[in-house]
Amino acid sequence: MPTTNTRSSLRTRRTRSGNGGATKPASGASAKSSNGKKSKSENGAGGNSQLEKLFTDSLKDIYWAEKHLTKALPKMKKAATTDELKSAIEEHLAQTEEQVTRLEQVFELCGKKAQAKKCDAMEGLIKEGESVVEETEDDSMTRDAGIIMAAQKVEHYEIATYGSLVQFARTLGMDEAAALLEQTLEEEKETDQKLTQIAESSINEEAEQEEKEETEEEE
Ligand SMILES: [Fe+2]
Ligand SMILES: [Fe+2]
Repeated sequence: MPTTNTRSSLRTRRTRSGNGGATKPASGASAKSSNGKKSKSENGAGGNSQLEKLFTDSLKDIYWAEKHLTKALPKMKKAATTDELKSAIEEHLAQTEEQVTRLEQVFELCGKKAQAKKCDAMEGLIKEGESVVEETEDDSMTRDAGIIMAAQKVEHYEIATYGSLVQFARTLGMDEAAALLEQTLEEEKETDQKLTQIAESSINEEAEQEEKEETEEEE
């Protein structure tokens, strides 16, 4: 039936559209914010919509994740081999500390006290990073290649989260919160790109060389 087919394909399209950083919010929802109407939350009065609840729950998750990262990043820096990776981690640690503060500002804009809720995904990603360190040799390039891979998994998780949070905030008419979250989103994207550059500049190739040397020794 043509009508049914049209409906189902429409539904499929709607289901597929995500909340990625570059994606525009759903038209119905964006109409509210484009009117310049502030939500109850941005006025500090708190709101009751289900999206608002999802928004604040997700804020608690990422708040826990960022705080956890401020403790994990110094360990990663210490474990890294090259000065280049060490300084990239150090720079991102400073950004992460700012991101924690930014999240506290977003909570304030929601009229809520900043609250952290354990983020199982971030805990797992950080554990994975610790395993990479345990499984690679000290002062090796393979260690750095592994740390970069683990760190990029973290950045991608953050990019997905902040991409959605920016869109939720816009949909809720919380433009100030959206701008703060977007600042963090851009930092996560830049960090991801920087890590790619570091890996591709020499670390991956030198790590591959390490494997060859070990194989030759074994033979
Ligand atoms: Fe972050
Ligand atoms: Fe990050």
